[in-house]
Amino acid sequence: MNIKKLIAEHINKTAEFSDTDFEALISESISNDKGNYSLPCFVFSKALHKSPQAIAESLLTQITNDGLFDKVEVVGGYVNFFLNKEYVSKNILTRFDISELTLNDGDSRLVLIDYCSPNVAKALHIGHLKTTIIGESLARLFTQCGYRVKRVNFLGDYGTPFGKIIGGLLKWGSFEEVKARGIDALQDYYIRFCKEEADDEALQQYARDIFQKIEQKDAEIYPIYQYIVEIALDSAKEMFSTLGVSFDDYRGEMYYNQYVPKIIDELKQKGLLVQSQDAQIVDLNDYDLSTAVMLKNDGTTLYLTRDISAVVSRYQEYKFDKILYVTDVAQVLHFKQLSKIIELMAYPFSKDIEHVPYGRYSLPDGKISSRKGKQAVLVDLIDYIKQKATEVIKGRSFTIERPDAVVEKVARAVLNYSVLKVERTKDCVFDTERAFSFDGETAPYMLYTYTRLASILRKYTDESVSADFSCFDNDAFELVKYVNDFTATMRIALEKRDSSILAKRIMDMCKAFNKFYTTNKVLDGNANTTSAKIQLVRALRDTLKVGFNLICIDTLEEM
Ligand code: ARG
Repeated sequence: MNIKKLIAEHINKTAEFSDTDFEALISESISNDKGNYSLPCFVFSKALHKSPQAIAESLLTQITNDGLFDKVEVVGGYVNFFLNKEYVSKNILTRFDISELTLNDGDSRLVLIDYCSPNVAKALHIGHLKTTIIGESLARLFTQCGYRVKRVNFLGDYGTPFGKIIGGLLKWGSFEEVKARGIDALQDYYIRFCKEEADDEALQQYARDIFQKIEQKDAEIYPIYQYIVEIALDSAKEMFSTLGVSFDDYRGEMYYNQYVPKIIDELKQKGLLVQSQDAQIVDLNDYDLSTAVMLKNDGTTLYLTRDISAVVSRYQEYKFDKILYVTDVAQVLHFKQLSKIIELMAYPFSKDIEHVPYGRYSLPDGKISSRKGKQAVLVDLIDYIKQKATEVIKGRSFTIERPDAVVEKVARAVLNYSVLKVERTKDCVFDTERAFSFDGETAPYMLYTYTRLASILRKYTDESVSADFSCFDNDAFELVKYVNDFTATMRIALEKRDSSILAKRIMDMCKAFNKFYTTNKVLDGNANTTSAKIQLVRALRDTLKVGFNLICIDTLEEM
C-alpha cells in the first residue's frame, strides 16, 4: 500500500491545486511528534501569493477523515498527518501476501550478469569475494523484480600464466603430485616459474612456446591445459558452494578467443582499425578514452579483444536486454572502451552494456597472511571463518539438530554480509572479530532475530480469531511501515545496483523488531491482540525471508 498516495487521496483538490501532485510532495516526518507524514506548503507560496501557513490552513479544511487520521495539524507552513495506526496497520497487514514481493517490473527481460570471472591460473583471492557476492545478490534481486537472469562466469583461462604452470609441471612436478595436491601444486609451479624466469630469457620463451601450443591445440599440451583448468575450476566451485552461488555459463576467454579473427575483420571493414607501431589499435582519443590495442603484431589478442568477441557472441546467442559486468573499479576504462567500440561497430546493444564497479576489500593487517602474492587467498579466509563459526555455534548452550548445517550457514552469512553491508563503491576492511558478535550490526544478530520470529510463530496455534490492531504502538507501527515499504527498497537497490541498500534496510528491520520486542509481548494472553501481533510477526518474517535471500543469507529456524 502506498501510504503517501493514500494520504494524497484524502485531500480534496480545489481549483488552484488541480495540477498538484500531493503524493510527490508528502514526505515521512522525522519525528513522531510532527505526525507520521507531512506536506510542506512553501512551494505554493509564490504562485498563490499567500503565506505557507495560510495555504496549509486552507488545505486543512479540504481533508477528508474517514478514520485514516488520528489528527491533522498545521504547524509553521506544514500540514502534519498523524495516521491512525490501527486503521493503517490493519489495511496493510490483512492485505499482506508474500507473493506480492515478487515483482514484474522486468517483464521477463533477460539480464546477463558477468561476475566472479577469476583468472584461474591464480588462486582466488579475497577480492573475488566482492564480485561474487555483489553479482549473486544482483542476480537474485533482478530475478525477484521479474527479470530473467543468466549468471555468466567469464573464466580468465587464457594467457602465458598457463604456459608457466605447465612449464613448471613438466620441469619440476609430476601428474601424481597434481592429482594429490590439486590447485596447490599448480600454484607452486606457477610461483617457482615466475621466480626462476626473472633472469632467464630461455625460460620465458619456454612458457610462451607452451602457451602457443595451447592456442594451436597441440596434441600433447592442450589436454594438459584442459586438465589444469578443470582442476582450477573444480577448486573454485568448491568455494562457490560455500558461498551459495553457482553459474549458468562458465565459458571464458579461451572459448571466446576463437571468434577474435572475425571481430578483427569486422573492425577492419568498418574502418576502425589503425596500424600503430607494433599493434593494430582503435583510436578512441576523440572520446577521451585513449587508444585500445586489439591485436599485437605477433598475433597476440588482448583482454579487451576477447571481451568484444564475447559480448558480440553472447548477444547473438542470448539476445540479452542488458549485460552487467561486476568488477573492481580499476576496470572502468576497460568497460568504457568496450561499450564505445561496440557502439562504433554499430551494434544496437552498446547502450545495454553496463559496468558495475566496486571498491576494494581487505582484511585487517596480519589477520590472514597471504601465502602467495600480495592478497590473501580466499580459501584461507573461508577456512578461518568456518572455524570461527564452529567455535561460536558449538559454544552455545542448547543443542541444535544439525550443528554442521548451522555452522555452514553462519559462515556464509558472515562472509556475504561483510561484503554487502558496505556501499558498493566504497573500500572496506573486513572486521573478522566483530563479525561474529550477536550484538550490533552483524550477520549473527540478523540470523538470531529471524529465529526469534520463527520461534514465536511456532508457539502460536490460535488461528481463527479476529485481530485487534488497537494495541499497536509506535514500535509496532514502525515495523508495519517497513513491511509495507520493502518493495520500494528493492526497487531503489535495483536501480542503484547496490544491495547494501537492502542489507541496511534488513538490519534496520531487525533492530526495529528487537526494540518492539523489549516492550511488547506477542503472545500476550489476549487472543485478539495476539492475533494482530502475529499477523505483524508473520509479515515481517516473510519479508525478511525474501530479504535475506536477496543478500545471500540463508535463514535459520534455530541457532
Ligand atoms: N578476469 C578478470 C579479472 O580477474 C575479470 C573479468 C570480468 N569480466 C569480463 N567479461 N571482463 O580481473
